[in-house]
Amino acid sequence: MNVDGVQVSYLEVGTGERAVVLLHGFPLRAEMWAPQLATLSPLARIVAPDLAGFGRSDVAPEPLRHTMADYVAQVAGLLRALGLQRVVLGGLSMGGYVAFSFLRRHPELVEALVLADTRAAADAKEVADRRSAQQDQIVAEGTTALRESFLEGLLGRTTSEGRPALVRRVRGLTDHPPDAFLAALQAMKSRPDCSADLPGIEVPTLVLVGEEDRLSPPAEVRAWQEAIPGSRLAVLPRAGHLSNLEAPDDFNAAVAAFLADLPPPGSAVYPED
Ligand code: MLT
Repeated sequence: MNVDGVQVSYLEVGTGERAVVLLHGFPLRAEMWAPQLATLSPLARIVAPDLAGFGRSDVAPEPLRHTMADYVAQVAGLLRALGLQRVVLGGLSMGGYVAFSFLRRHPELVEALVLADTRAAADAKEVADRRSAQQDQIVAEGTTALRESFLEGLLGRTTSEGRPALVRRVRGLTDHPPDAFLAALQAMKSRPDCSADLPGIEVPTLVLVGEEDRLSPPAEVRAWQEAIPGSRLAVLPRAGHLSNLEAPDDFNAAVAAFLADLPPPGSAVYPED
């Protein structure tokens, strides 16, 4: 779809009054949500965009100046183009970073949050420095070596050791133009710290994390989740950072139960200023 002059691709299934928008992690694309698109479609209209440069969406014009705000603008533009006025916003890892920034910028568009394997804080200095080194490596030699090292961190022990077909499938989801990597690394290393927002989150929130997640370990996720009033936490066994792909049944069951407990779409009243 052309949104504000830029091509934004997305996957969409399901119908109904409730819309769920799912934002993918790094360095992946909308297709990583296949198990959710396949199973949750009877419950809602589900839209999964490719963030700028990933999948078939246009790459950001200036990757080394890309910010979370640019991803937020892309998602808001897509919602506008699709006529979606209030959505359940879900994001895994980098998708969660975008979701936190989206909630800050457009709280009126968010009915509820589903946050998986992510964090509210900004990058620590050593993480931001590592991303800068990765950007230099991409400019110098492309993405091949880095893709393998990213893949290692994404998957839990159970998947890496015993599920070669899933490892291959995820590897296939990490093939993107170098500019997509450069833009995402830039946006992640410069993203705002949203930790102070957590106690003020007023929408129902489900947080999920793979028990074997090494990038955003369960203890770390629990620490920020507990700061969101009334939020729920689901820790998924035998799953790493890509909990939606590594433990799709448990992930889908937790999301389905969460959706079932939400007030009917349109009835939840967002507090007046
Ligand atoms: C992701 O899965 O989106 C990345 O691991 C996020 C990150 O590198 O911080």
